[in-house]
Amino acid sequence: KQVENGSVTWKSPSNIALVKYWGKKENQIPANPSISFTLDGCNTTTTVNFSQKESHQEYAFDVFLGGDLKESFKPKIETFFKRINTYLPFLKEYYFKIDTVNTFPHSSGIASSASGMSALALCLMSIEKMLNPDITEEYFNKKSSFLARLGSGSACRSIDGDLVVWGLHNEIEGSSDIFGIKYPFNVHENFKNYQDTILLVDKGEKPVSSTIGHGLMHNHPFAEQRFEQAHNNLSALIDVFKTGDLNGFVNIVESEALTLHAMMMCSMPYFILMKPNTLEIINKIWSYRKETGSKVCFTLDAGANVHVLYPKAEIEQVVQFIKNELVAHCENGQYICDQIGFGAKKI
Ligand code: PMV
Repeated sequence: KQVENGSVTWKSPSNIALVKYWGKKENQIPANPSISFTLDGCNTTTTVNFSQKESHQEYAFDVFLGGDLKESFKPKIETFFKRINTYLPFLKEYYFKIDTVNTFPHSSGIASSASGMSALALCLMSIEKMLNPDITEEYFNKKSSFLARLGSGSACRSIDGDLVVWGLHNEIEGSSDIFGIKYPFNVHENFKNYQDTILLVDKGEKPVSSTIGHGLMHNHPFAEQRFEQAHNNLSALIDVFKTGDLNGFVNIVESEALTLHAMMMCSMPYFILMKPNTLEIINKIWSYRKETGSKVCFTLDAGANVHVLYPKAEIEQVVQFIKNELVAHCENGQYICDQIGFGAKKI
């Protein structure tokens, strides 16, 4: 079908891994399976306007963040276009104006790559659907996740919700290394509307990017054990989700977060992304849990910020605890209250 121009908008969320992806093979194939909660309030809205290309550039596009032209974003998107061109041949035929806006503050230390790359992948798939209207919804979702993965691995877990698995796992039918799938089993109501309060501990530039970090899992002394552990932790989580075992959840999720950072500390070169305030917060969460019997726990991304996870039933007490004891350890007292979400939406 011939289409001269058009416009599409998608809003796509960030996600937080419970079993972490750390280490990859060629073509963004993960070294182990991962599972994440899709977030709700932390998201990116992207509009892509496309029109007939007039320039002779291979890929013609401009990117705007919150209305400002962002030349600095172009190389990453150009790399993305080059990677996915074989799957979306129309990329060389149009000029794209990409307008993007995040709900969370830019350079807050919250990675915008998952929400940003998934939103862009979805917009491009909507254009693909304008050109090929017969595309089914299932194909659309799988291919959007597949393309998002090629932008940023964890972005493939942002299309759907509320729990998404990415990477082959022998107990999870339909799981795949090349796209994320919605978690296919029953989830106990203890995990419905789970809360995630993100404590912004350090907004500075990270000393080591996640791309380099993934690379350091090659020839890492503990790589094989780590990848096996991720499979086992995902198996254990299946049971936890079925039975509603909140203690089991806490143990797996915190162990995964600390293992991720332990891998960084014993790679060569080694590095540390946690800050003193990250540890202060972790210790306070442990004390609070011990004193109150709360099921609050933490997880970490590849950075110093802390995601505080807790059941909806505890929201009042935990938010009070966060305000009283944890916010003092955030940069400029900044934190974001979020919860589990249900995936990307076309606007
Ligand atoms: O998607 P990437 O390449 O930025 O890697 C993200 C890796 C972690 O956030 C540390 C873990 C995960 O599974 O999201």
